[in-house]
Amino acid sequence: MNLFEYRGGRLWCEQQQVADLAARFDTPLYVYSAGTLQAHYERFRAAFAALDPLICYSIKCCSNVHILRRLAGWGSGFDVVSGGELCRALQAGAGPAKFVFAGVGKTVAEMQAALRAGVGLLNVESESEMAELVAVAGALGLTADVAVRLNPDVDAKTHPYTTTGTQENKFGVGPEQARELFHAYRATPAVRLRGLHLHIGSPVHDVQPYVAAIERALDLIATLRCDGSDVDTLDIGGGFGAHYRGGEAPPAEAYAAALVPLLHGRGLRVILEPGRSIAANAGLLVTRVLHVKDSGRRRFAIVDASMNELIRPALYSAYHFVWPLDAGARIPADFRGDQPFAGLETYDVVGPICESSDFLAKDRPLPPVRRGDLLAVFTCGAYAMSMASQYNSRPRAAEVLVEGDVVQLIRRRETYVDLLRAEEVG
Ligand code: LLP
Repeated sequence: MNLFEYRGGRLWCEQQQVADLAARFDTPLYVYSAGTLQAHYERFRAAFAALDPLICYSIKCCSNVHILRRLAGWGSGFDVVSGGELCRALQAGAGPAKFVFAGVGKTVAEMQAALRAGVGLLNVESESEMAELVAVAGALGLTADVAVRLNPDVDAKTHPYTTTGTQENKFGVGPEQARELFHAYRATPAVRLRGLHLHIGSPVHDVQPYVAAIERALDLIATLRCDGSDVDTLDIGGGFGAHYRGGEAPPAEAYAAALVPLLHGRGLRVILEPGRSIAANAGLLVTRVLHVKDSGRRRFAIVDASMNELIRPALYSAYHFVWPLDAGARIPADFRGDQPFAGLETYDVVGPICESSDFLAKDRPLPPVRRGDLLAVFTCGAYAMSMASQYNSRPRAAEVLVEGDVVQLIRRRETYVDLLRAEEVG
């Protein structure tokens, strides 16, 4: 479900016409729908309600603090992976007991910050990290609640860059090593070993890899309990899909139907870390066509958004549906770009950056595009702004949040002063 829709051939976000937002805030512009965000969060929560889980929204997918405040207000905790994300989570107002801190390379300063803040769970990914955490917690006189991240060696069949649960990947430790860690640190006062963490990849469009990974984790938990550990927590991570083309992502209820029976009644507190499934379809990127040109082989729509604002096509060959804001009568009701109809032309939609990887869409059927037209790049609520850069010294774009007919600027457009601020050092 999302609250972006064409009415009378014009794109609306809730009760705001998206073209009006572009006129008011300029382009490129990220537009988020608060209603969509909330609906996705609530639907996910309801699907897994039988487990009474702790939902820790994964900040890395869309980290604007105004969005985090909304999520905190709806009861969400946060999955953080850096001191910066911890800082955002604390600003957002959810209690730190609802934070989980993952990541293969936590620094001493980040461990100290997490421990001082009272983060609910630190997900430890190596023996080296565990030893350091014990030293850091010991020096502070604090006890860290810890889950060991299990690498279950399950292939989630995502893009190779976003698969995280096989032995090829840097994440977590295998079951034997996890058992050794529990054995070695069970009686160490500076850490309380609470359980296991998993995160197998993103997006995972099949429930089967989750089932396989969780079964391995449950087997290991049974062994750890036999060994004498009080395991009470299983964090199954995120990775749940979102629709880019439409139809590819199982609904929250389908993941829940497979996973709830596996996890129910095990004496475990279950933690979930969804990101994309909550945020992706709650946002889009609006861009203006600067020029149209034809190389003889390809027709290019050169737009003012770029790999700065959306790096996913360049990095993962990701598909994002692109369509004019003002589609006139030309768009069939459920059109998602896959069934070209009469009158379309094929374009590469590209940005101004000096790289041939700077494209938002390739070989895309579009109504004839003219200079000045506004285009929407859909499904940009996750891993778009949060992966944005200033490459080519282009200030980052603004973000607005729409709720009904109310519009809130939640991040102003950066300026050239912002570009240079951190370089004012001497
Ligand atoms: N938990 C952990 C430990 C993670 O590493 C991630 C994502 C998540 C949860 C949230 O996953 P989600 O529910 O959003 O799929 N930049 C890539 C995605 C990288 C995901 C990294 N980890 C993309 O644009 O597709």
